[in-house]
Amino acid sequence: MSLLGDIVSVTLAGMMLVNQGIMTITPQHNADSPLFLVNREWRISGYYIPELRLANVPGQVKRLRPEVADALEAMYAACKAETKVTLVSVSGYREYDKQERIYAAKLKRVKGDVEAANAYVALPGASEHQTGLSMDVGQASLSSDENLSGTFGGSKGGKWLKENCWRFGFIIRYQEGWEAITGYSAEPWHVRYVGVENAAKIHANEMPLEEFLVLERKTIMLDLMENNGDSF
Ligand code: DAL
Ligand code: ZN
Repeated sequence: MSLLGDIVSVTLAGMMLVNQGIMTITPQHNADSPLFLVNREWRISGYYIPELRLANVPGQVKRLRPEVADALEAMYAACKAETKVTLVSVSGYREYDKQERIYAAKLKRVKGDVEAANAYVALPGASEHQTGLSMDVGQASLSSDENLSGTFGGSKGGKWLKENCWRFGFIIRYQEGWEAITGYSAEPWHVRYVGVENAAKIHANEMPLEEFLVLERKTIMLDLMENNGDSF
């Protein structure tokens, strides 16, 4: 083969490798990935609708992706067995239009103060609830107002959730001190599914999902360089 041919084939092989690498390290190409990031900067299409099923748990708005519903059911059963506390579903999957209505209602309640509304409610397309991966968890013995408040975080169920949700593949997505990174105030009731392996790492490192994704990409990139792409 000519020198030019060699250069072309080496370049093409390199490009393929890099593209495969990017596909592996960037779940943003796949909205069905349990690591798909949704926040103020990374919005999800208004047309995206995941596969859903009703979780067999007490409460309301119980639709989630099937694997997430399985994990939620197992988590609620474990909480009951370990603490006798009954957890309930407050709000799971929300379609784009519903998020639009929730945001408009919140904005009205805070008399048009956009900053105040944005601290707690995502704009349509910026809510993890549209992915079918998130659930607002409550404790059956608390009122609906208490459940979506710090009272839930201080309750037996809320404390158990914080310590144990990773065992079932969930993370507490919005925590105190992370506001500048996640874009939202602390919500001890909002869990997001990422799979058990990822949740265990995130829990151990006590970091927001945004930071974990950067770390994971760095690790995979270093691995790619060290092993010359063998890992792909
Ligand atoms: N409360 C969270 C941020 C949402 O609306 O998705
Ligand atoms: Zn939520």
